[in-house]
Amino acid sequence: MLKNFFILLLLALVISQFLRPDKNESSYDNITVFEEQAAVTPEVQTILESQCYDCHSNVTRYPWYMEVSPVSHWMAYQIEEGKEHFNVSEWESYTENQKDHKLEEFIEEIEKKEMPLKPYTWIHGELSNTDAERLISWAKQRREKPIIPEEDTTNVKEIDSLQVETSNTLTTK
Ligand code: HEC
Repeated sequence: MLKNFFILLLLALVISQFLRPDKNESSYDNITVFEEQAAVTPEVQTILESQCYDCHSNVTRYPWYMEVSPVSHWMAYQIEEGKEHFNVSEWESYTENQKDHKLEEFIEEIEKKEMPLKPYTWIHGELSNTDAERLISWAKQRREKPIIPEEDTTNVKEIDSLQVETSNTLTTK
């Protein structure tokens, strides 16, 4: 009886490998928009990328173990849930009030050590206290001093002129 159960379980596990959930792999461009608009420092960016973007952006990294069921199915579910609550790829579409509210939740989740989700940290490692403090102080600063749109446009102009320069050099070559 028990033996049959394990054979069935093994069979289910093998079959589930063929049921691959859709991947969360869109363009990184919208994350860059968030990083510019919310003045994410390089230090904070590194932490977000390694601990949060997998579930809170439209770009998840997929090392091999993320592709193995049941991890792949668990992750697909968490990504969907996580993005519904907070998605940096959608940052631009949030109102100023929503942005402030997300940052408030952001601080709260880290202070209560609710994020990153527990089983995720078993593989990716815990968020260190120093990194947690860095994230919190960045978010607090953003809540006090939200970026005014004028600053954004200067950034965009700078990037635009950079692109023009590179394309010029390309055409002259
Ligand atoms: C493995 C996936 C996963 C990772 C990694 C993860 N989260 Fe989440 N996050 C979720 C899910 C699922 C929810 C929604 C359910 C909940 O609140 O528990 C959520 C909710 C949130 C919310 C919204 C809470 C609310 O009440 O609306 C914030 C803010 C958040 N996470 C921040 C972070 C930060 C910051 C990190 C990185 C330090 C992070 N998360 C890492 C899955 C994840």
